[in-house]
Amino acid sequence: MSRTEQARAILAANDRGGYTVPTDRLYPFQWNWDSAFVAMGWATFDADRAWRELERLLEGQWDDGLVPQIVFHAPSDDYFPGPDVWGIQRMPPTSGIPQPPVLASAVRFLLERQGEAGAERARAVYPKLVLNHRWWEEARDPQRSGLVATLHPWETGMDNSPAWDIALERVPAETRTEIRRRDTGHVDAAFRPRGIEYQRFIHLVDLFREAGWDAQRMFAQSPFKVADVGTNAILLRAERDLLALAERFGSAAECAAIAARIAHKTVVLSGLWDEALRHYLSRDLIGGTLIPVRTSAGFLPLFAGLHEHAGALAARLNGWASRGLALVPSTDPDAPSFEPQRYWRGPVWAVVNWMIATGLAEAGDPQTAALVRSETRRLIGQAGFSEYFNPVDGAGIGGGAFSWTAAIDLLLGEDQGA
Ligand code: GLC
Repeated sequence: MSRTEQARAILAANDRGGYTVPTDRLYPFQWNWDSAFVAMGWATFDADRAWRELERLLEGQWDDGLVPQIVFHAPSDDYFPGPDVWGIQRMPPTSGIPQPPVLASAVRFLLERQGEAGAERARAVYPKLVLNHRWWEEARDPQRSGLVATLHPWETGMDNSPAWDIALERVPAETRTEIRRRDTGHVDAAFRPRGIEYQRFIHLVDLFREAGWDAQRMFAQSPFKVADVGTNAILLRAERDLLALAERFGSAAECAAIAARIAHKTVVLSGLWDEALRHYLSRDLIGGTLIPVRTSAGFLPLFAGLHEHAGALAARLNGWASRGLALVPSTDPDAPSFEPQRYWRGPVWAVVNWMIATGLAEAGDPQTAALVRSETRRLIGQAGFSEYFNPVDGAGIGGGAFSWTAAIDLLLGEDQGA
């Protein structure tokens, strides 16, 4: 099988009927941001299936606009916490928190790629995207600061990033739900979040369930509240993509509202640049400070269209590469919290690389963009379609035959004509 055929075969094998699981067993449901990337991967060879992916994700959308992190389309015993722990009464069942909103960007990608043939499907999902972006503003930025708050590390998609360590310590480790982890039965525990982190993750789920999943109560009561630079950058990118869709499918009032949010968010996101660390940082909204740890999320303002510091960010990437590190480590390899094998505390993730490379190319740095892309291809070529990669020795870690890794490989393979 050629490499392209292998990547397509992974998507096909993980297809559960219009939606794609991230990988067999470890993640047996539909995950939000995985699906957005996976749809772009499907779009390289099957436009109809690509749209289905997003339509099935939107089957999980709540009336208030939330597009949840997980849609539990079919029962499975392989994952904890399942629908019973979330306790959300709807069909299909879902979790009760978001994930980084790549969705509008995926819709625009599919539409531009497919041209007129995709217009009807884009038009049909457009109002749901508008509702979702309003949800972000009302539920997560009630004071209109310009930055949305994250109330659970899982919402960032970068579950155990060291950027959350201090903020997470405010969350008690007691849980009312009995913890029955499944992940460590599928994958070596040394590569996964630690037990204490997991208890705090579940404490927050217990708290939100008891708040009835009411957005205002969750915002008011959560002991974990950060403005994640990754989520905010991805949302700003999504707002720009939504504006392009609104110009075609929306009203003048919608266009004006989105344009106003873009203007405000651009200014506020720029304020997450830290001159001492020369990196974009997340803000701890309870402690009131920038969180002084460089992570791969801090490169994502490039993807949002903030190009002012592209030179400094590219210099850091090139510096790491010249020391023989694979790009892009999820945590600064010089940080004390760096662990090259543990999930979001060091390993390289293909989807993050794809966003960073896109941002670098748009910022006018095709060389560093090409470096990040070729590094991603090299890692996947050597180690397979793993969930993530060790930046020190290039080993593939976590789950195998991973959907979003395959999707990114398809996108990058096209760029490189392979
Ligand atoms: C993990 C990752 C998250 C991803 C999910 C499914 O929870 O941290 O980003 O969406 O797995 O792949």
